[in-house]
Formats: sequence, C-alpha cells, structure tokens
Amino acid sequence: MEKTFLMVKPDGVQRGLIGEVVSRFEKKGFKLAAAKLMVIPEELAKKHYGEHAERPFFGELVDFITSGPVFAMIWEGEDVVKTARHMMGATKPSEAALGTIRGDLGLTVGKNIIHGSDSLESAEREINLFFEDSSAINYEKTS
Ligand code: CMP
Repeated sequence: MEKTFLMVKPDGVQRGLIGEVVSRFEKKGFKLAAAKLMVIPEELAKKHYGEHAERPFFGELVDFITSGPVFAMIWEGEDVVKTARHMMGATKPSEAALGTIRGDLGLTVGKNIIHGSDSLESAEREINLFFEDSSAINYEKTS
C-alpha cells in the first residue's frame, strides 16, 4: 500500500494542533502506520531539506524545524501522497484554499503547520530518513 511521510512542524505542535491534523487524515480514511514526537537533529534537518540547500531561506528553515518538537508520521492508503498534499493546501497559507490544513490553520510560509512528501520518491526517502523499517505497522498482517 502507498505510504507518505507527514510531519506536524514546531508551530503546529506548539499550538496544540497534532490532534486536529491527525484527525483530518483519520477521518479521510488513511491509516497511521508510525508516529513519533521528536526534536530533529540539525544534521537530519539538513538532509531532509537538502533540495532547498541553495535557497536564501535554507538557514532559517533548518533553524525553525529544529527549534522545538515535531510530530513525524507515516500514513498509508490509496494515492496518499497526492491526496495528503491536497489536504495540506498550498505552501503559502495566504494561497491555500479554505478547507485545507494550511488554509484553515496556517499564517506564514515558514510556519505553515505541516510538511508532506511531494512525490512517491520523496516519500520513500523521507520515511527512510526518519523511521527504521521495522517501526511501521504492516496493516496487511494485522486486522
Ligand atoms: P515544506 O513543505 O516543509 O518544504 C519546504 C519549506 O520551506 C516549506 O514547507 C516552507 O515552510 C518553507 N519555505 C518556503 N519558502 C520560504 C520562505 N520564503 N521563507 C521561509 N521558509 C520558506
């Protein structure tokens, strides 16, 4: 079954929005396969956001994502990568549609509540960066 990596960012955790975010994906019908509350080490943050290394906001991005606990998750379900991106809304909350997580709850492009993998390849890479293979639930083997 398709999997994606989602993460409630430090602003979302600090504002008490973990439950709200988890609830939206549960209600949609996706299954939570792994989750952990953690402070991201700088080295992991730089790897995770490696594709943005040349952007002017890279330093700010790494500083922010390591500034407090995040809630890292693996979700699974049919077309979960693309559907989760729709549910998150545009990166800039000012451009995100109402009804999406960022449109309803976010305010700024940096503090935009949630990160989600943008492709199947990114999902695999990000899941492997944050989780051991054995730590995800295999729903095909459980009821
Ligand atoms: P995310 O989906 O986590 O992936 C990269 C992040 O970079 C993005 O969400 C934004 O939060 C962040 N980002 C994009 N543009 C800017 C910017 N101009 N300043 C700070 N952060 C940004």
